[in-house]
Amino acid sequence: MKRIAIFASGSGSNAEKIIERFAINPNVEISLIVSNKADAYVLKRAQNYNIETRLVPSKKVLGSLEFAEYLQEKEIDLIVLAGFLLLIPSLLISYFPDRIINIHPALLPKYGGKGMYGMHVHTAVVKNRDKESGITIHYVNEKYDDGKHILQVTCAIEKDDDPKILSEKIQKLEHLHYPIAIEKVLAEL
Ligand code: GAR
Repeated sequence: MKRIAIFASGSGSNAEKIIERFAINPNVEISLIVSNKADAYVLKRAQNYNIETRLVPSKKVLGSLEFAEYLQEKEIDLIVLAGFLLLIPSLLISYFPDRIINIHPALLPKYGGKGMYGMHVHTAVVKNRDKESGITIHYVNEKYDDGKHILQVTCAIEKDDDPKILSEKIQKLEHLHYPIAIEKVLAEL
């Protein structure tokens, strides 16, 4: 049995796709949903699936020994970031080396770094009149959006695409590819 903890700060549409994908896999369990926002919709989604939730209200808690040990006690094999906006502290990375992955809604290294998330990314991409965008799934290190790439998938940007249309294209790619990429990462653990 492989155990996943999903970390998310917002809606959690990716989290839900991942939960659905592994609901039919007896070898993988989504054991925990972690959020830094008490009102994040992802926590409601977790309740609907009877998945344990945990709030990490600050960077300090996220980087604490107590939190790292709690994840270890729960025998978490892989941490999956799905729209989680806090930087992962080095203590947590040292407890889960090559076992934390993230999805970013652009083709890194472009449009990454602090403050580059959600619609901010799509607005910047459209403003620059890029011809394509896409998603990047990568390992997490101490810097925002910087770790080794696992997968990139691109999509074309048409002349009339606004940030909202682009965000819908990107979300489709994310929902399709993130669960599959997670399955591949798990197979290599
Ligand atoms: C996703 O588009 C994800 O790529 C992005 O947040 C969104 C979360 O959506 N993450 C980042 O921008 C990280 N830098 P969701 O809550 O509906 O899954």
